[in-house]
Amino acid sequence: MAFEPPHLSRRILRGDVLDFLADPGFLPPHEAPGVRFRPDHRVLIDQQRIQAVVPADQALPPDWAAVPEEDHRGRLILPGFIDTHVHCPQLDVIASFGTELLDWLNTYTFPAETRYADPAVSELGARRFLQALWSHGTTSAMVFATVHKVSADALFAHAAATHMRLITGKVLMDRHAPDGLRDDVAQAERDCIDQIQQWHGKDRQSFAVTIRFAPCSTPEQLVMAGALCAAYPGVYMQTHVAENRAEVAWVSELFPDARSYLDVYDRDGLIGERGVLAHGIWLDDNDLAVMREHGAQIAHSPSSNLFLGSGLFDWRRTEAAGVNVSLASDVGGGTSLCLLRNMADAYKIQAMQGQRLTAWKALYTATAGAAKHLGLADEIGLVEPGLFADLAVWDLAVSDVTQHRLGLASNLHEQVFAWMTLGDERNLVTTLVAGHTRFSRAS
Ligand code: GUN
Ligand code: ZN
Repeated sequence: MAFEPPHLSRRILRGDVLDFLADPGFLPPHEAPGVRFRPDHRVLIDQQRIQAVVPADQALPPDWAAVPEEDHRGRLILPGFIDTHVHCPQLDVIASFGTELLDWLNTYTFPAETRYADPAVSELGARRFLQALWSHGTTSAMVFATVHKVSADALFAHAAATHMRLITGKVLMDRHAPDGLRDDVAQAERDCIDQIQQWHGKDRQSFAVTIRFAPCSTPEQLVMAGALCAAYPGVYMQTHVAENRAEVAWVSELFPDARSYLDVYDRDGLIGERGVLAHGIWLDDNDLAVMREHGAQIAHSPSSNLFLGSGLFDWRRTEAAGVNVSLASDVGGGTSLCLLRNMADAYKIQAMQGQRLTAWKALYTATAGAAKHLGLADEIGLVEPGLFADLAVWDLAVSDVTQHRLGLASNLHEQVFAWMTLGDERNLVTTLVAGHTRFSRAS
């Protein structure tokens, strides 16, 4: 057996480490709990995981002396971002002009997704998509593939090969979609069970029962989806809810017996603590109470809500009702995979409602908060010994204007908020997934 010196599986990153030990809530920046800033520290990585985080002026353990240091002094080292709602095939339609949700689906999205029946398209699409996540600072994601089993298989295979934390599953849709983009209840059930058996719990993969949205599933398919959630309690559930007013009206026509859009899912047992529902802009108080009772979360998708003109999500009201909120790009309704840009959009959405979102709250939500709500806090979300080395290194400024602005900042929040608001993927220096470099700006 080949002998590998221990340091070859080890790395040391040096920089300013920022992560969050508690929810900063909607408190002013200087009152927010949980902010952990560790300037000039070394992150020691052994194989796939973080071994230690130590001040740079502290001596290293002797067996780490030969490990070369990757010097990122003056840069931020953050946990990789967690995007809780994004569509792999929709890189093909990002930035499509001129429509709201239902037209957008029919005009751009459904035709593009039809192409993923071809295994070669699915394979290439999965590789392109995961690489794109990494090059935007995202290391974990909950992803919509297409209705085609092969599209989710390709994502699982590529994520498993790169030891990336991924949650996905073939999309359920058996009506109101074009030929080539519909399944049926029996085939869909077989495909889901196959994927659960093949992928769920393998490496860092989890299966999600993935319902496109209520209008695209027959009542029979929703019953089947609920039965899957009951039969396999470890799986996730993802779907869309109450995104757009015309969509909400259509759901009430299609399901006249349901109390509300959310109730269509709830009555079939689809709302649980592993449920992630995108948008939730137009939920009523009753719906929020149901979400809270079951511990399900809303994947707030700011750039998508703005781009598709869907509405202004009331983040404070949703959390005040006890509902968990995570952050998502929702590409291709969303206009950027970069969660920094989505944070900047989230800030503006709250500002339009007279609320303020701190950088602490936004960053917590995209890291430790998402990890907690997904039940993955022992794996991702912090720069902490024992967790996976899923990390992103960021330049605070790559433009003269940002550099100038940061030079005038009088405290850490002011600096980090300006970075969050002015920065994007061009600020990203490198991304590590399970200790492996998956993106490097230099390359
Ligand atoms: N509702 C149903 N499908 C979709 C989708 O692909 N994107 C968004 N934003 N909403 C949806
Ligand atoms: Zn979506």
